[in-house]
Amino acid sequence: MTVHVAKLEQRKQPGELRSARWFAPDDLRGFGHRSRLLQMGYSPSDWVDKPVIAILNTWSDTNPCHGHFKTRVADVKRGVLQAGGFPIELPALSVSETFLKPTSMLYRNMLAMDAEEMIRAHPVDGVILMGGCDKSTPALLMGATSAGLPAIFVPAGPMLRGNWQGKELGSGSDAWKYWDERRAGNISVADWSEMEGGIARSAGHCMTLGTASTMTAIAESIGMSLSGSSSIPATDSAHIRMCAEAGRRIVGMVWEDLVPSRIQTRKAFENAVTVAMAMGCSTNAIIHLIAQARRAGADISLDDFDAASRRTPVLANIRPSGERYLMEDFYFAGGLRGLMSRLVDQLHLDCLTVDGATLGQVITGARVYNDDVIRPRDNPVYAEGALAVLRGNLAPDGCVIKPSACDKRFLRHTGPALVFDSYPEMKAVIDRDDLDVTPDHVLILRNAGPLGGPGMPEWGMLPIPRKLVRQGVRDMMRISDARMSGTSYGACILHVAPESYIGGPLALVRTGDLICVDVAARSIRLEISDEEMAARRQAWQPPARHYERGYGWIYSRHVQQANEGCDFDFLRAQFGANPPEPAI
Ligand code: FES
Ligand code: MG
Repeated sequence: MTVHVAKLEQRKQPGELRSARWFAPDDLRGFGHRSRLLQMGYSPSDWVDKPVIAILNTWSDTNPCHGHFKTRVADVKRGVLQAGGFPIELPALSVSETFLKPTSMLYRNMLAMDAEEMIRAHPVDGVILMGGCDKSTPALLMGATSAGLPAIFVPAGPMLRGNWQGKELGSGSDAWKYWDERRAGNISVADWSEMEGGIARSAGHCMTLGTASTMTAIAESIGMSLSGSSSIPATDSAHIRMCAEAGRRIVGMVWEDLVPSRIQTRKAFENAVTVAMAMGCSTNAIIHLIAQARRAGADISLDDFDAASRRTPVLANIRPSGERYLMEDFYFAGGLRGLMSRLVDQLHLDCLTVDGATLGQVITGARVYNDDVIRPRDNPVYAEGALAVLRGNLAPDGCVIKPSACDKRFLRHTGPALVFDSYPEMKAVIDRDDLDVTPDHVLILRNAGPLGGPGMPEWGMLPIPRKLVRQGVRDMMRISDARMSGTSYGACILHVAPESYIGGPLALVRTGDLICVDVAARSIRLEISDEEMAARRQAWQPPARHYERGYGWIYSRHVQQANEGCDFDFLRAQFGANPPEPAI
């Protein structure tokens, strides 16, 4: 990693620090705050005239992707102290992709609220955000954006490559792939259990180009992570050095008053969309980036992604979109700076980054060391089409497919629907030998959207029916209002909006109806007449509500549809002004 820390003009004096409102006044409140710092063993030399840096740490015993944060936080603190700041660690909700049910997505907004409110409520001048497992990156950035204080996102970094019987294994992607082989009877139980011990070898997030690697690359390309940080492997010593550097840099950012609004402009989000496409990104990036941009007041929409996809080649040859490599290869091939150096004509190089320099400055001198991992523009993995947005009578507000990760025969396909009303219903019959299904069928899963799931689970890569797996079928057209894991692949049409649970047209499909998809024309159609559609809508009954109390109840009342980023309506920038600084 090459760090290009520049220094911007100082805009803040010690007396103007936000934290000084807690610690400086000679009054009863000031007495209370100072006496409690002394209680913890701090002295005035720890805090007087020093920026207080909150370190939002999403470590937990249930989050293997952040397993190293327990020690990395000490490295961040070391950096903060070296630069003359006062570090305070604030534990934040740990949204673990693997363990949280019904789905981690249900809790993305909860972490975003946790981050925003804890930053606002504490005596804090700047923030380090420690995340990386899928939802944690957008959640922390959404919260910090709304809180508005200088912030650096510290990415967890990808775990080491998996290994099993001499084969390299990729997180998620190989689990899906070999599970089909197991279902087909090609892999023994013993082999399978050996794989369990080899697929995740160290702390760090998934090392395929799934949602985690996509979102950390997005954080860096927006300018919210140190340049060159996003692909450093979690257990590399460079990761330790990066953590300390982030600690040093955030102190400088407080004096420079380098707040997210100076970094996260519409142009910065356009850069992120372009980079996401060149990475062959996870489909989840669309939802998160829309939500994040809207927090910053930049209106990024599905159409921005589709347009960028048409003009941006996929350059990162990383699985599952790419053929072969994993994130460690990407890092050694030059990482994100190397990739961005090949996109300079498509990026806004004047955008400011947390490094205190422009994007153009921080990628100057970046090189690519392996042209097969990060492809040159004239030899891309795909000339275009990381993602495509389809619309039609089945998805009036859009849906998404990843053409780069599916069998090309499905780019234009007409087939009869086989409809499942719920995931358990699908699971109960998908392996039956008498299931009436052919390779041309279109599998449909509904009631799996933001409200219907609830929480829009990653169910969109429906399993291929076992009888077809045994015949050698490995891809089919699948349509749902769910998401899919960034490590998944196949002809999966996702994020259908509006979702079926609230009466979107997906709710009206019947088994046997013909569905017609044409990716080049960006269209998706249910082949029934408008009159028939209207009659079915008339007869449709809304399903029972999932939640009668608690967080789920709040979620159900306020979550927006996939095309709007699934943020809560009341957290959008346009919803209303932020509260004033708290009275002390
Ligand atoms: Fe954490 Fe994949 S499970 S990033
Ligand atoms: Mg994932």
